[in-house]
Amino acid sequence: MFDFSSLYSHLRDTRLQPWAELLPHQIQSQLDKKRHGDLEKWQAVLEQLPAITPSSYDLTSDTVRIGTADDLTNINAADFTELLKKFHPWRKGPFELFGVHIDTEWRSDWKWNRLKDHIQDLTGRTVLDVGCGSGYHCWRMRGAGAELVIGIDPTLVFNIQHQALTKYIHNEPVYVLPVGIDDVPPELRAFDTVFSMGILYHRRSPIDHLNELRGCLKKGGELVLETLIIEGDKGEVLLPEDRYAQMRNVWFIPTVATLELWLRRCGYVDIKCVDVNTTSLEEQRATEWMHYHSLVDFLDPDDHSKTIEAYPAPRRAILTATAS
Ligand SMILES: C[S@@+](CC[C@H](N)C(=O)[O-])C[C@H]1O[C@@H](n2cnc3c(N)ncnc32)[C@H](O)[C@@H]1O
Repeated sequence: MFDFSSLYSHLRDTRLQPWAELLPHQIQSQLDKKRHGDLEKWQAVLEQLPAITPSSYDLTSDTVRIGTADDLTNINAADFTELLKKFHPWRKGPFELFGVHIDTEWRSDWKWNRLKDHIQDLTGRTVLDVGCGSGYHCWRMRGAGAELVIGIDPTLVFNIQHQALTKYIHNEPVYVLPVGIDDVPPELRAFDTVFSMGILYHRRSPIDHLNELRGCLKKGGELVLETLIIEGDKGEVLLPEDRYAQMRNVWFIPTVATLELWLRRCGYVDIKCVDVNTTSLEEQRATEWMHYHSLVDFLDPDDHSKTIEAYPAPRRAILTATAS
């Protein structure tokens, strides 16, 4: 588990070499910090997953698919499903593994479909996905032609979900690392495209986050930013009193005009808002793969245009911007 030696050799003699030198220690210290019973349990389940070579896989469709039901020969589908469910909660997807459909909490494909035609062609690009969860979008980035995709996410269960998939597709340059944005050395200026989706509102200092993202990008590289927004004018921002839609650690929710101003102040140019969307109960919902509370429980039961705390219901914007 967590053997990234092929990534380290990939990064040798590239602009990412300075980070590659730090990564083994950063990963080890995350694992030490998060060491708990679940890690051993997950590791044991990973080992129990049957060794199967998929007859095919598909990273270009809404459902990331590995193999077919016919490939599943030495285990029955129900037992395989039970093993995969031990990696609950499955939040970002959907995936299909050997005919087993993993119906995740989020239809992450909808977000991808909203942005894919508005970003620079990923062919041949080196991409960073900050806060990538299970890595669903990382696979889609590779499917769209990226040469190397590095996702980072410090939440271990999501890393384990990615490890389960890489048991079956291990030759693709798609890596999900158990580290956070603070582990990326400042001013690397190494990536062609950086995605930050669902992260900015969790950062206590959004301006510092936009600056650190610019530091990850080559000059002329593209930022794809997706975050919660409110309606309103330049300068307006919502700072919730406490929770927002039951989420802790939500700090700043700007208007699109405010966000554009923040990006300009951080040295981005060619800033475009390419999508604004109110999150629907069909896009984020509890399923048999994620049975905790979900969006419907976080909204005012009598008025779905408001959160349970009486703030505007979740609305998200996607912006693209070029790093100067
Ligand atoms: C709302 S989810 C977004 C997932 C995905 N990017 C998407 O748009 O569907 C936020 C993710 O950020 C991760 N995260 C939290 N702190 C982080 C940090 N310091 N650096 C990188 N990711 C972080 C969480 O574990 C979580 O998976």
